[in-house]
Amino acid sequence: MSFKDRFGAFSETSAQAPGRVNLLGEHTDYNDGFVLPTPLPYFTYVEADRLEGRIEGYAENFGETRSRSLDQGKQGDWLDYLAGCVWVLRTAGYQVPGGRFYVRSEVPMGAGLSSSAALEVATLRALRALYRLPLDDKQIALLAQQAEAEYVGVRVGIMDQMASSLGQPGQALFLDTRTLDYQLVPLPAGYKVAVVDSAVPRRLAEAGYNERRSQCEEAARLLGVKALRDVGLERLNEVEALPEPLGRRARHVITENARVLEGVTALRSGDIRRFGELMLASHRSLRDDYEVSIPALDRLVDLAMQNGAAGARLTGAGFGGAIVALVPEQEYERFKAGLSRGYPQARFV
Ligand code: GLA
Repeated sequence: MSFKDRFGAFSETSAQAPGRVNLLGEHTDYNDGFVLPTPLPYFTYVEADRLEGRIEGYAENFGETRSRSLDQGKQGDWLDYLAGCVWVLRTAGYQVPGGRFYVRSEVPMGAGLSSSAALEVATLRALRALYRLPLDDKQIALLAQQAEAEYVGVRVGIMDQMASSLGQPGQALFLDTRTLDYQLVPLPAGYKVAVVDSAVPRRLAEAGYNERRSQCEEAARLLGVKALRDVGLERLNEVEALPEPLGRRARHVITENARVLEGVTALRSGDIRRFGELMLASHRSLRDDYEVSIPALDRLVDLAMQNGAAGARLTGAGFGGAIVALVPEQEYERFKAGLSRGYPQARFV
């Protein structure tokens, strides 16, 4: 199937955007902190054509066409992501009268690998080309996040959209989510960024995510700062004295920010052993302090460490989804075999 088969004419433009995996810096982006994601070699492809007053889409993955008029709001389906992109551009004052889209995605869904951000960024890129909009990649990321937060209704941070929009293959995107300044840091040669999906769908993820967000805001308020980003390790005693569970939640964020900074130094100096230790420390912190892991992810991380990984951790919001591990390339087959034996449902992304 193609745009032409489905809609009877060739599309005017096409665009694509990748999913991402986060190496370090989890649940820090909505605390104005640091993150270190890298794009995946899997993309969402959007072909687009002009349409007046309507949004129409065909999702190849679902074999389904959906359509709505511009003034119909959110419907709780996948077309919301496309409609949200049109909505956000119109809200920002751009002349975008509608659109017809053909969508195909290679990014696994529901695994914490940012299939939503890939779809939003690809759609906005297609609309940028279609209507010749003067938008740079940072603006695209911000608009994508706004579409997801305000139209789709999930209050995410900025990491996923920035990674999808600005990430480069073979490089980690070291991003300060407060200033949006970023640097590209080369990934270590000879290592594979292995992504293993637990095949456990993320349950209660949205409720858990929002609850963690509110707890962080409350902790920041009690500590008298704008965001937990403003608290350094030197205030750890004070942080730990916060009422439970705020103390542990804040401790995760503060130590995680420090791990990203140290991780970037380790990557730059080729100290993969230290980077791996930081990944594992991040997982433990997410498990014990932030409480967003599940037994399947803990098991996969243990198996990864027993089967040659330099480091491993859950990646994305948690509550299910995938782990990321840094594995020497020559160990990867052994790693896969070991994980499959210990956790037969594992899917190697
Ligand atoms: C999801 C959100 C991101 C980020 C991560 C947790 O992927 O979309 O903004 O908060 O969870 O690090």
